[in-house]
Amino acid sequence: MKFIDVPKPGDPDALVIAECPVPLPGPGEVLIKVAAAGLNRADILQRQGHYPPPPGAPKHPGLEVSGLVERLGPGASEFREGDRVCALLQGGGYAQYVCAAEGQVLPLPAGVDLVQGAALPEACFTVWSNVFMFGRLTAGETLLVHGGTSGIGVTAIQLAKARGARVLATAGSEAKCRMCESLGATAINYRTQDFAAAVRELTRGGANVILDMIAGDYTARNIDALAEEGRLVVIATQGGVSSTINMLKIMQKRAVLTGSTLRPRPVVFKAEVKRQLLRHVWPAIADGSYRIVIDRAFPLPEAAAAHRRMESSEHIGKILLTVDR
Ligand SMILES: NC(=O)c1ccc[n+]([C@@H]2O[C@H](COP(=O)([O-])OP(=O)(O)OC[C@H]3O[C@@H](n4cnc5c(N)ncnc54)[C@H](OP(=O)(O)O)[C@@H]3O)[C@@H](O)[C@H]2O)c1
Repeated sequence: MKFIDVPKPGDPDALVIAECPVPLPGPGEVLIKVAAAGLNRADILQRQGHYPPPPGAPKHPGLEVSGLVERLGPGASEFREGDRVCALLQGGGYAQYVCAAEGQVLPLPAGVDLVQGAALPEACFTVWSNVFMFGRLTAGETLLVHGGTSGIGVTAIQLAKARGARVLATAGSEAKCRMCESLGATAINYRTQDFAAAVRELTRGGANVILDMIAGDYTARNIDALAEEGRLVVIATQGGVSSTINMLKIMQKRAVLTGSTLRPRPVVFKAEVKRQLLRHVWPAIADGSYRIVIDRAFPLPEAAAAHRRMESSEHIGKILLTVDR
C-alpha cells in the first residue's frame, strides 16, 4: 500500500510517498480502507521531530481517518466488512489502509459523506473529553474557546451551543470572526481586542470554562477571564510551555486549572469517550444540526501542500487528505 512517510524530520517536503505491506489487524482491531485522513497540528510537530509517536504506535503520521472496514482482527465483533466508519488513531492515518482498535472506531453518522467523516474523530474526542468531561460545561454556562476556526474550535463552538451554553471564541481575522459567528459564537478578534477585557465585558463575572490551545502568556489572561469556580482546560502550548500566574487569583476564584493530551490515553478511556459521543453528539451530526467545516481536501501525494496550508494558518475548519479508491 502507499503511505506518507517522514524518513527525516524537517519542513513539509520531509513528507514523502512510500510503499509497505497492508497491515494485519491485531486482536480487537479492524483494518480500514482509508477514504480520507484528517490533518492535525500535532502532525506538523511530529513531522518537525518535536512530537514522537508513543511506544507501539505507527511511526508515520495521521491521527484520524474515515473509510470502509476491510477486515476484522481476531475477536473484533462490533463492525462488519464494508461498514462506513471513522476512527481515532495513534498514528498511521496518512495511508491507503490502517488498523484501529474497535474502541476508537465509530460508524459514520447517517448522511455524512465518506470523505467528510475524516474531519470528526480527533476534534470530537478532544472537545468532548476536555470541555464536557474535564471542564464540566453545563447548559446556561459560558465557554470561551481560543482558535475558534481551528478544527477544534469549530467543533467546540457547535457542541457547546448544542448543549445550551453560550460561546465566546477568539480568532485572528475579521473573516475568521464572521465564521465563528455563523456557528453561533460571539467572536473576539484577539489581534485588535484584549480578549480578557472583552470576556469580562460580555459576561457577568467571566467564562465558566475556557478551552485554551495557547498557554504561555495567555494563562494569566485566561485566569483574569475566568468566572468564580471557572475551569481552565489547556490542550496545547502554541504560545509557550511556561506561564507565570498569580496563585492568589486561583484561590480567590476557586478556579481549576487542568489539561490533557488525548493521543497517549489508553483505549479504555477513548472507548468511554466514544460511548458518550455516540449518545450525545452523533445524533446531532446525523440530524444536520452540526455542520462539518472543511477548509480544503488535498490528494494524499500532496500531503506537503496540505501541511503548508495548515502552517499558513489561513485555513478555516479541517484540512483533509483524500485517498484514491
Ligand atoms: N491536547 C490534545 O489532546 C489535543 C488534541 C487535538 C488538538 N490539540 C491542539 O489543539 C489546537 C488546535 O488543533 P487543530 O488541529 O484544530 O489546529 P489548527 O486548525 O491549525 O488550529 C490552530 C489555531 O490556533 C489559533 N491561534 C494561534 N495563535 C493564537 C492566539 N494567539 N490566540 C488565539 N488563537 C490562536 C489559530 O487561529 P488564528 O489564525 O485565528 O490565529 C488556529 O485556528 C492545536 O494547538 C493542537 O495541537 C490538542
